[in-house]
Amino acid sequence: SSLQITPVKKPVPKLKSAKHLAPQASALKVAVLGAGGGIGQPLGLLLKMSPLISDLHLYDIANVKGVAADLSHCNTPAHVADFTGPAELANCLKGVDVVVIPAGVPRKPGMTRDDLFNINANIVKTLVEAVADNCPEAFIHIISNPVNSTVPIAAEVLKQKGCYDPKRLFGVTTLDVVRANTFVAQNKKLRLIDVDVPVVGGHAGITILPLLSKTKPFVGFTDQEVEELTVRIQNAGTEVVEAKAGAGSATLSMAYAAARFVESSLRALDGDSEVYECAFVQSELTELPFFASRVKLGKSGVEAIISDDLQGLTEYEAKALEALKPELKDSIEKGIAFVQNQK
Ligand code: NAI
Repeated sequence: SSLQITPVKKPVPKLKSAKHLAPQASALKVAVLGAGGGIGQPLGLLLKMSPLISDLHLYDIANVKGVAADLSHCNTPAHVADFTGPAELANCLKGVDVVVIPAGVPRKPGMTRDDLFNINANIVKTLVEAVADNCPEAFIHIISNPVNSTVPIAAEVLKQKGCYDPKRLFGVTTLDVVRANTFVAQNKKLRLIDVDVPVVGGHAGITILPLLSKTKPFVGFTDQEVEELTVRIQNAGTEVVEAKAGAGSATLSMAYAAARFVESSLRALDGDSEVYECAFVQSELTELPFFASRVKLGKSGVEAIISDDLQGLTEYEAKALEALKPELKDSIEKGIAFVQNQK
């Protein structure tokens, strides 16, 4: 039997209901870049528990040997290998199906995600160049903040390398969905496993837009509840940053969310035809070039961008959507300019 680390998947309405797949041996390879960090370590542990993974490659600039030795003693099938420093990065990436990137610095109290730009932009650029050179067909999951800019950076790097496939590049916004589901279930006293709230836009402050009116199962909210829940979901990261008081940002809940997104990607690669997740991807849903929404995942990445959620928004949601666009646009353009100005 497999260790279920993701909630039961829920297809969007109008589509066929999910078929339950029997657990089966799989041979998918996953690399984590930044594997020695606060997110990287618990993410490594959760991925070591996945029956879909045959090889788990852990890369960092330091401290990854011990993490790999430690994880390798768990009696689960995934083979763990460690890679330290740029000289070992190419070997880490060869033959890999999914690359997860949580490398970079996290926030401290008082910082916005954009304050991380100067350091993390370079880290993401360098790592994605190596992905382009060694596993250009892999799914790329970008966790490093500011996601609203680091995903456009990755896209530009891949374009320069001549291997950009927008279907395979994802900004990981799963934590926003996980938080929305948790807070709504608590607020409405619903069973956690039943609740699904789509979260669209981007991954910073007001660009995080939970569509509470689209919550499954259907549940009514007062205006005050909508306001309070929306603000809490948008500021949930800051809640953790302040509680950790200088020791970093969300790592455990982020590792859980990242593992869920990896597992969904692996199920899609493995042939499951009913996999849906929210992610920040290249998109034509709005006039912005990148936008987070629910997407359907398949063997070659994003198979469809689900537009239903943006139909029939409440007045509150429609206003919030318009209000987030200028900030999201600026963050996207900042990422694109960062790569183009270095030409
Ligand atoms: P951390 O500082 O604990 O770990 C980062 C790791 O990256 C360290 O082990 C460090 O050695 C490594 N690293 C630095 N430069 C590297 C390079 N060039 N190549 C490979 N590895 C490198 O930070 P933490 O808490 O794990 O957060 C990582 C990132 O994830 C931050 O940018 C944070 O803002 C972001 N984050 C994103 C979330 C999301 O929802 N997308 C949620 C929470 C955090």
